[in-house]
Amino acid sequence: MQALALDLRRKNTQIGFVPTMGFLHKGHLRLMARARQLVGNNGVVVASVFVNPTQFGPAEDYSTYPRDLARDARLCREAGVDIMFVPTAAQMYPKQGRKEFSTFVVEEKLSRSMEGLSRPTHFRGVTTVVAKLFNLVLPTVAVFGAKDWQQAMIVRRMVADLNFPVRIVVAPTVREPDGLAMSSRNQYLSQDERRQATILWRAICRAKEIVRSASKPVSAHLLKQELAMLISTQPAAQVDYIEFFQSDTLDPLEEVEPGAHIAMAVRIGRTRLIDNAKL
Ligand code: PAJ
Repeated sequence: MQALALDLRRKNTQIGFVPTMGFLHKGHLRLMARARQLVGNNGVVVASVFVNPTQFGPAEDYSTYPRDLARDARLCREAGVDIMFVPTAAQMYPKQGRKEFSTFVVEEKLSRSMEGLSRPTHFRGVTTVVAKLFNLVLPTVAVFGAKDWQQAMIVRRMVADLNFPVRIVVAPTVREPDGLAMSSRNQYLSQDERRQATILWRAICRAKEIVRSASKPVSAHLLKQELAMLISTQPAAQVDYIEFFQSDTLDPLEEVEPGAHIAMAVRIGRTRLIDNAKL
């Protein structure tokens, strides 16, 4: 992959990159379309499919994470992806013989809140694998989804802090008709849980309504209580966190006004879902 990328870069070819963990859905495909738009027809679009073990906690779903490489390959082809990069875990993280892996990239501020609190080693895995993928694919531009807002802001920070020569573009969250953000993990939901899962989007919409109709800033504490109550109307739902913060810095807000960002993680049965939006 790196030899190919070096060759392309020598020829001044733009490389647009979409890193994924596969089991592709319309959200991923939209990122690929955006990458194509950004690099044009003379550019090359690369999508990686790699279920990255280092970003899963020991009790998380690494082994059961949905995988369907044949389907992913077909979807990539249909989306106009030029190169599908599918490394193995042993290639990315060698631990046999003389080859060992012991270097990690750690962002130390934006990674501490929200997903970082609930999943302590998650972002270390994300920044490490994204740094490795950037060094392998050598993209001129990389596209990330707003669905994982904190991840996108952390990748932006890593790229700025470590001087990666790549532009980071964040594309909007793609949703099902009923508002549920598309996610490979939606696959885990039973029919009944799938219906209850719309509560994340409904809570976000409720927050928008409250904040936009208020004549002054709304207390984040009260807003959290109100949304937690709304979410608890769904028997399978269990709130992990609801946070309000400044979009780019992720600085938490005590008073919420239009333009503030909301993010939440909610368990629906055994499936942990996240969503976020600008209010
Ligand atoms: P994955 O969950 O497969 O997501 C890959 C990319 O697709 C991410 O940038 C994510 O934000 C974006 N995405 C997922 N669902 C989306 C939706 N409904 N709308 C728009 N974009 C969406 O995120 C990861 O993989 C990994 O952490 C990765 C960055 C590949 C590193 O391993």
